[in-house]
Amino acid sequence: MYEIAKIIHLVSAVIFGGVVFTEVVLLPAIKKEYGEEKFKEIEKVMIRKRGIKIVPIFVLFLYASGFYMFHIYMKEIDLSTNFAKLLILKISLALTVLLLVITAISLFIKGKSESKFFDYAHYGVFVLVFSVIILAKLMFIL
Ligand code: HEM
Repeated sequence: MYEIAKIIHLVSAVIFGGVVFTEVVLLPAIKKEYGEEKFKEIEKVMIRKRGIKIVPIFVLFLYASGFYMFHIYMKEIDLSTNFAKLLILKISLALTVLLLVITAISLFIKGKSESKFFDYAHYGVFVLVFSVIILAKLMFIL
């Protein structure tokens, strides 16, 4: 069961990381080429027709599998080890990401997609998600 959770976690992390990378690195190229208004239109279609239906499922898989694995580790975790410290840091950053994602989704649903929050949240989530991924590997090395 643990190994299955790990595969679900990894696949969901790849998909979620890919979505964040597309939003922050690839899509701004459309803004540059076609202007702010056209970009907002394309982004809205992408989010409404696909994103909002697919991404939350993988976010749910990502966090559910993460918490499942953590509850196994928790049984015998030694807080004095680097592994435990980095794991707790990783989880704290991941929970900050979740808070930002939930805020963004609820603002979007309320029709406040013009909010300045989105500009900052995108970069915040980008830095946090990739830090979480790097920490996920460093915790086994350091
Ligand atoms: C933004 C959210 C998250 C991302 C992008 C993420 C990403 C990752 C990645 C890439 C790995 C390495 C998997 C592997 O190579 O086998 C990993 C491992 C792990 N993650 Fe997450 N994670 C996230 C959230 C969480 C949360 C919320 C928890 C727990 C509450 C968690 C607990 C764990 C644990 C325990 C491992 C170690 C698995 C092992 O035994 O190898 N993760 N995570």
